[in-house]
Amino acid sequence: MIDFRSDTVTRPDEMMRSAMARAEVADNVIDSDPTIRALEERAAETLGTPAALWTPSGTMANLIALSTHLRRGDRFLAPRDAHVLVNELGSAAWLAGGMPEPLEHDAGPGRPSAGAVRAAAGTREGPYYVLRTTLLCLENTHNVAGGAITPPHEHAQLVATAREAGLRVHLDGARLWHAAAALDLPPAALTVGVDTVSACFSKGLGAPVGSVLAGGEEFVEEARRMRQMLGGGVRQGGVLAAACLLALDRVGELGEDHAHARTLAEGLREYGWDVSEPQTNIVLARVPDLLLTLDWLRGLGVLALPMAGKVRFVTHRDLSAGDVEEALRRIKAGSR
Ligand SMILES: Cc1ncc(COP(=O)(O)O)c(C=O)c1O
Repeated sequence: MIDFRSDTVTRPDEMMRSAMARAEVADNVIDSDPTIRALEERAAETLGTPAALWTPSGTMANLIALSTHLRRGDRFLAPRDAHVLVNELGSAAWLAGGMPEPLEHDAGPGRPSAGAVRAAAGTREGPYYVLRTTLLCLENTHNVAGGAITPPHEHAQLVATAREAGLRVHLDGARLWHAAAALDLPPAALTVGVDTVSACFSKGLGAPVGSVLAGGEEFVEEARRMRQMLGGGVRQGGVLAAACLLALDRVGELGEDHAHARTLAEGLREYGWDVSEPQTNIVLARVPDLLLTLDWLRGLGVLALPMAGKVRFVTHRDLSAGDVEEALRRIKAGSR
């Protein structure tokens, strides 16, 4: 099977497994695990924040961020189809107590405009019975929009507009590394002005487990308590953090996955598929019958997933250029 379902299907390679086996560890709940601490310090520096907190998953990182930022009943804004809106099982409302407001992608795929943020945020002044909007939650890259990048100048406008409206800003940067690699910028160039940012080591970078939630010192101390409440306080987690540290060394290699995505998109287009040009490692294809197409692909030994009514192919480090060529060959042969 050639597995394009997600960049989360990668398996830790020998180098990563041996780094995990050798990791220096201690009880991270009672005091501090040295490898988790090293990862948190490096992640904070990479993301341009004063502090960071390791979490088992991106979902937990987002939940902690939203729970810490929002009071019950506060409204928060996020681009339509953001992960926090459609893929976290309603935890933003159920656990974090937020009232979600989706923003249209009126500036381009995955990107609401500053005007849309301004209009939705409204004004802080008003009588006591007016709904309170307190947070903007961005997503870079935007998964459902096809790994779509928000460039730094638009990010800066969105953050500035949110600030003017008195909103805090959380950035879901599960694949921020991909945006940074595609733009040839350091990840911190894409987090400017945010209060908090989450990022994942398990998406495209090869780590089996692990995300990070980064922000100010005080925020991170509060987030640490919340992580404990949610059962995310692991003990000798250094074995996991060692994989994340190695994953961070691999951000520079993501360009290869992006090139594979472009090859795949080009090939599919040559065979008459309706495919948008990938900005990073996600290729979306519009097909007449989604489930039939996914079954047909599976029959050819090519795995993909449905995403917002389209076929989603994701390239990753466990797929070579040869795998992409082979998938295209099978698709061409299967179409005859
Ligand atoms: C944009 C985005 N945010 C958050 C997550 C959640 O990460 P996790 O699967 O580690 O919970 C994902 C997962 O695919 C994602 O695509």
